Amino acid sequence: ITPLAEAYRGMFDIGAAVNARTLATSGDLLKTHYNSLTAENDMKFERLHPEPGVYTFETADSIARFASENGMRMRGHTLVWHNQAPEWVFQNEAGQAIGQEELLKRMEEHINAVAGRYRGQVYCWDVVNEVIEDKAEEWLRRSKWLDIAGEGFIAKAFAYAHAADPDAQLFYNDYNECDPVKRDKIVRLLRSLKEQDVPLHGMGMQGHWSLYGPSMDDIRQAIESYAALDLRLHVTELDLSVFAHDDRRTDLTEPTAEMLELQAERYEAVFALFREYRDAIDSVTFWGAADDYTWLHDFPVRGRRNWPLVFDAAHRPKASFYRITEF
Ligand code: G3I
Repeated sequence: ITPLAEAYRGMFDIGAAVNARTLATSGDLLKTHYNSLTAENDMKFERLHPEPGVYTFETADSIARFASENGMRMRGHTLVWHNQAPEWVFQNEAGQAIGQEELLKRMEEHINAVAGRYRGQVYCWDVVNEVIEDKAEEWLRRSKWLDIAGEGFIAKAFAYAHAADPDAQLFYNDYNECDPVKRDKIVRLLRSLKEQDVPLHGMGMQGHWSLYGPSMDDIRQAIESYAALDLRLHVTELDLSVFAHDDRRTDLTEPTAEMLELQAERYEAVFALFREYRDAIDSVTFWGAADDYTWLHDFPVRGRRNWPLVFDAAHRPKASFYRITEF
């Protein structure tokens, strides 16, 4: 069989999201098939900076070390996000909300410490994650960052990241990125950042898709729209859930043959499209290494398993694997 990264050499990197457990259980698979890593959770604010002045870099360091020892590149995920940001960031010692100036100072200090530490190891950062609102009629997502610091925190985050690591490629990263309404809002944000001369280099299309959507046409349109802004594209968190949106079944202990076939067809189509846009796409990262561990187990339905990746739970290549490596 052809290793994944080998099949795509000269086109784009093939990455996987990892955590301490998958590094231990999937080391061989990672070394064989992937040439890029992203920390699934361990470079997020609450993991690296759980209390004021306290930085906990151990697990993130071990992931970065694994990457460099095995000649893999490392994507940084993520500096500023509404989720997994600890409460203390937005409060003073008395538990009252802080003001704009203080929050921006804390954001700058965090970005400096984190992007500074991984300078030379992490070659790109998801600087700002998921700030566009999903609801069609609303613009930015309500969050403490937005409420306290105002819309300007987005541009500032990029400026701070650029100052901390001038060589890093800086990305905006979001999901539902192929939905035409959300896509247009993302384009509006990216365009406005570029007009303000913000150091922004790429768009991260998360790629949390399923066997049923988005349509290939919407994926193509999204790629075209982001690439037209003269930004590099990374697919940052790819997985194809086997369940449709309204499917709440919890009884399956294995994927059905039909699911696996549909998934193979869809992976084939998706990667054919990525190859078509190889001049714009530099990296495709799966949000996990194999089906034994995925964030989609128990999400959004508790007690339900999922099989969204191209290696099965025993790390054997699935039909999907063959369809994306033999072309
Ligand atoms: O580590 C604790 C553990 O100590 C505790 O016992 C357990 C009980 O719930 O929770 C554990 O933390 C969980 C953590 O994953 C590690 O497994 C959190 O509850 C859980 O919320 C967290 O989920 C992560 C999620 O981001 C947070 O929103 C997922 O693993 C991670 O895959 C997911 O990744 C995000 C990207 O960063 C951004 N894009 C969407 C993507 C999927 O949601």
